Amino acid sequence: MSSSLLILQVRKQAKVGGRCARYEFLHFLFYHKLKIIVMKFFIDTANLDEIKEANDLGILDGVTTNPSLMAKDGVTGTDAILKRYVDICNIVDGDVSAEVIATDFAGIVKEGENLATLHKNIVVKVPMIKDGVKALKYFSDQGIRTNCTLVFSAGQAILAAKAGATYVSPFMGRIDDISWDGTDLIDQMVEIYANYGFETEILAASIRSPLHIVKCAEIGADVVTTPLKSIMALLNHPLTDVGLEKFLADYKKGNS
Ligand code: E4P
Repeated sequence: MSSSLLILQVRKQAKVGGRCARYEFLHFLFYHKLKIIVMKFFIDTANLDEIKEANDLGILDGVTTNPSLMAKDGVTGTDAILKRYVDICNIVDGDVSAEVIATDFAGIVKEGENLATLHKNIVVKVPMIKDGVKALKYFSDQGIRTNCTLVFSAGQAILAAKAGATYVSPFMGRIDDISWDGTDLIDQMVEIYANYGFETEILAASIRSPLHIVKCAEIGADVVTTPLKSIMALLNHPLTDVGLEKFLADYKKGNS
């Protein structure tokens, strides 16, 4: 069994076993000299300034985009869109999801293969539809990395993993929008993928708040993709502001 599969199995037991089991999990990793898997942070935007700002913070592992985000940033037309992907890849040293527009197998394959030639970090984003699943399997066989998008159920997540998707994107915020709980889906996916040792990474998407990010970290999502404001909101705490103000005031008193 590979070390990553072993980690997944032990992680699953630790998850259902409560806090003590989680400590045992950490001891297990330490004893076997295994690397602890750290949650990856992606930014969900096509805006270059926001990408630069998050990247400058030093915590950015990748970028996700979609046609709506491209349109929001005024990027239209095939050439401009392809150029934007390359510009993003030149800023961030990490995976960049580029979404196909085609919805038929042949079209998805053609578009995805073209996107994959743009840069080594491009991950082809494919919608969770019948031809999309076929294309995921095709890309997986060709060694082209993929992100299966618009996932709203555990059943869809199983199909995408079976088809060999590199990432699967459950849309937390949009599930919350219809009064369901997006965290339940992430929870189910963590358990199912660990049950069978799927190496597909869970990329929690449609993040709307810093609390979503914290919840994903508690559950064990592999990646979160979030707007810049949710990443920056993680910084905030009123006691930090009050504490810093006092430290600086006390320093000033003794040093002016
Ligand atoms: C995921 O890759 C999508 O781009 C994104 O997270 C969708 O988020 P939204 O529901 O805020 O549009």
